[in-house]
Amino acid sequence: MSQPRKILVTSALPYANGPIHIGHLVEYIQTDIWSRFQKMRGHECWYVCADDAHGTPIMLRARQEGIEPEQLIARVAEEHKADFAAFRIGFDNYHSTHSEENRFFATCIYERNREAGHIVKREISQAYDPVEQMFLPDRFIKGQCPKCGAADQYGDNCEACGASYSPAELKNPVSAVSGATPIERQSEHHFFKLADFQAMLKDWTHGGHLQKEMANKLDEWFDAGLQEWDISRDAPYFGFEIPDHPGKYFYVWLDAPIGYMASFKQLCDRAGLDFDAFWNADSSAELYNFIGKDIVYFHCLFWPAMLHGAGFRKPTAVFAHGFLTVDGAKMSKSRGTFIKARTYLDHLNPEYLRYYFAAKLGSGVDDIDLNLEDFAQRVNSDLVGKLVNIASRCAGFINKRFANRLSAELAEPELFTQFVAAADSIASHYEGREFSRALREIMALADRANQYIDERQPWVLAKQEGREAELHAVCSMGLELFRLLMGYLRPVLPGTAEAAEAFLQIEPLRWADLAQPLGGHKISPFKPLMTRVEMPQITAMLEASKEDLKAAQAQLQGASDDNQLAADPIAETIDYADFAKVDLRVARIAKAEAVEGADKLLRLTLDLGGETRNVFAGIKSAYAPEDLEGRLTVMVANLAPRKMRFGLSEGMVLAAGPGGKELFILSPDSGAEPGMKVK
Ligand code: MSP
Ligand code: ZN
Repeated sequence: MSQPRKILVTSALPYANGPIHIGHLVEYIQTDIWSRFQKMRGHECWYVCADDAHGTPIMLRARQEGIEPEQLIARVAEEHKADFAAFRIGFDNYHSTHSEENRFFATCIYERNREAGHIVKREISQAYDPVEQMFLPDRFIKGQCPKCGAADQYGDNCEACGASYSPAELKNPVSAVSGATPIERQSEHHFFKLADFQAMLKDWTHGGHLQKEMANKLDEWFDAGLQEWDISRDAPYFGFEIPDHPGKYFYVWLDAPIGYMASFKQLCDRAGLDFDAFWNADSSAELYNFIGKDIVYFHCLFWPAMLHGAGFRKPTAVFAHGFLTVDGAKMSKSRGTFIKARTYLDHLNPEYLRYYFAAKLGSGVDDIDLNLEDFAQRVNSDLVGKLVNIASRCAGFINKRFANRLSAELAEPELFTQFVAAADSIASHYEGREFSRALREIMALADRANQYIDERQPWVLAKQEGREAELHAVCSMGLELFRLLMGYLRPVLPGTAEAAEAFLQIEPLRWADLAQPLGGHKISPFKPLMTRVEMPQITAMLEASKEDLKAAQAQLQGASDDNQLAADPIAETIDYADFAKVDLRVARIAKAEAVEGADKLLRLTLDLGGETRNVFAGIKSAYAPEDLEGRLTVMVANLAPRKMRFGLSEGMVLAAGPGGKELFILSPDSGAEPGMKVK
């Protein structure tokens, strides 16, 4: 074999404000298969990743849950790691962008680029929420579409007509954080001068580092002109403060890819590796970033430019993949096809999904579809019907009739040689990320192995006198072929391969060892390696995904959506001090209106005597909006604001009753005034 290579592999860093779902898994499974393949080939290959922990959505999400961002990202990191481990994503290190290593490299890259003159400062004017006292990212401004007039559209594009625009063009804009009307405000920002790198990037993007489709896409961006990139954000922000500019933070996308370096640095410190050998400008190590096609701009322009400007090496290649659809459509919460990694694991074996994605993945950026019927059919026919079947047809005889020992000689050396001869072609498919081709070739071999067993009929030999030697030879041959197939599939099916290695009593299979047959080797009793997928398991998974959605909605809508109030037993006693924490106030319902797209909710504008609040209440089934306007009620005024799909809810009104039409909002006696404290 040729010289071992030094390879560093990454997957994009998942955001730390949500769970891993099966869409994400396309990427982590793809990268994991490739890195396991490299390791099996005897190369020095390291696979690192991290949580992407910074940014406004994470800050607001933590606020909404009433916890610190550090607590949120610590909890999510544990969930992510558990999900990845269950899918056997074999990271050598998993870190966080909110880490000292990352602060160090983000600062270093920023400072080196600044010294080289690639960073400028200038004032810009931006939407500002006067209530929350924060600048608003486009996604947190809503209003009417300037083109078609659709209500409740986000600041950058309209879901109704597809128009894109700047948030300043929105009609009647409101902050999705507080509901206030944004104002324009000046602030000084730092910009990375991407155009300084135009020539380098043009060369690099056409230098064999990218897939063709991506290089072409990038040409469109070059033609449109490379814009300066705003790399700073104002407080409040969850991120790293810019060292020479207090109150300003690095934009999350500046330090996110640097998280690849940070995670690798942590690994180097633990495992005694030489960081510089991988990251110096003249490094001979290979660096590969696997990403989804939605984040090409960041990885193929900003990231190489930033590295180049700071004197680090650039990626050997950036590999983009397409998006996952389920049964031909975008993953959908209401259809139950927005499937979380955890929900999948509650119902199905992770090896199935690894196999199915591999069977669909090529080197291009096409979207891939998870067709659930095809999924069940494919797993059952390929893995259970073909692969595992070879072992189960042969193992019993070896176990029972030959004291677990294989025969020393190969019954069909030529067939074995044919299987070995496929190794190079299979390897080149893996190397080129043509996993579907690799699997087609491996499954053709599995067919060949089954055909051999069908022809030799060990179950018939077993019943005939004097054919012991033949029976032994045929079953041993079957298991020799099974071992080769398992070796070829090992990057895709690490769990099954491990179980097969235990059964065969062999060391973890390496590519270079595959050609060596087992010979008169002793094996263990056979245990079934995999069971069939049954459609009811899939249906149950979809149902559970719908339940996940309902639970999330119930959490957002709070107690006002709880049908069980009347039947609820009295809760545990609490101290007066606990009660005193709840700030109950008399509120006047200044305005009540239906919420487009929500069948239970009313949007209430509550007057607290000087201050107004925007509250979503699940009381639409019991009240017509016009019946509420002008009424007094009681609200929890110090509930942490919660971001809902329709905007921010800043409190809760109190209501009693089982739900539906029987829901009664509380009202104080006449004489009470808006804003009075309820004690
Ligand atoms: N945090 C950024 C990446 C920063 S990398 C320095 C991000 N996070 S993400 O959680 O939204 O996505 C993580 C990866 O999963 C991305 O590469 C993204 O393309 C991929 N996918 C997310 N949803 C996906 C599908 N539905 N299908 C396939 N890949 C998907 O982007
Ligand atoms: Zn529109």
